[in-house]
Amino acid sequence: MRIVLLGPPGAGKGTQAARLAVSLKVQHVSTGDMLRAEVAGETALGKLAKGFMDRGELVPDDVIIGMISSRLKSGAGMVLDGFPRTVAQAEALDRAFVQAGLKLDRVVYFAVGQEELVIRLSGRATCKGCQRPYNLNTSPPKKTGNCDHCGGELMQRNDDKPEAVRNRLKVYEKQTAPVLDYYRRAAAVKEIDAVGTVEEVYARLTAAVR
Ligand code: AP5
Ligand code: MG
Repeated sequence: MRIVLLGPPGAGKGTQAARLAVSLKVQHVSTGDMLRAEVAGETALGKLAKGFMDRGELVPDDVIIGMISSRLKSGAGMVLDGFPRTVAQAEALDRAFVQAGLKLDRVVYFAVGQEELVIRLSGRATCKGCQRPYNLNTSPPKKTGNCDHCGGELMQRNDDKPEAVRNRLKVYEKQTAPVLDYYRRAAAVKEIDAVGTVEEVYARLTAAVR
């Protein structure tokens, strides 16, 4: 299966994509996680991307499409998290799938109000190792400061600081909300209420991709 999870920053895409990918036995493909790995490795791509990410802006389309296109064409099942987030990226995804003879099975949109997003992002802690997200208020790790999954150290993402969060929400409205309209025109979008416990949202997500 090939599934796109769409939604604003903090909507819970990463939290849910990790679980869904395990249950469907497909890859979890997060362009945000891929970019953070490049930044941590101090690669040329990471150095280019870091400034955009820290400011809460999008990394240029050609960089993202270049980074992900071979994975799109691999034929593997995947849950795409954080890609596409511009109409140009959605068009590139369509082209890549057509060229490889693949099809997109579902697009699921996570609906969450802005106030809830700010609360979620300000309490988020992310594993330096596997990038799993926690929330210090609602879903803290079992051992303070360390990831339940890999034991890695938890940190605050640079772009979870208040100014970057505000900018990410603006950028989402301007550049990513049109992607929802793009998919709606193809009548392929299922919208889920992404407010509730992680379990409740997961149940809605699995019903939407069934
Ligand atoms: P990316 O890493 O994709 O960030 P994002 O889209 O802003 O989304 P987030 O990861 O912040 O939120 P999420 O929806 O995954 O929520 P999460 O599950 O963590 O991108 C980062 C940057 O990289 C971008 O700004 C850009 O610079 C660049 N980039 C990446 N992809 C790009 C692309 N395609 N093109 C251009 N640039 C790109 O949950 C959030 C918090 O809420 C956590 O604390 C979590 O524990 C908590 N939570 C989750 N579910 C619930 C729930 N049901 N109830 C209460 N709390 C919950
Ligand atoms: Mg994420």
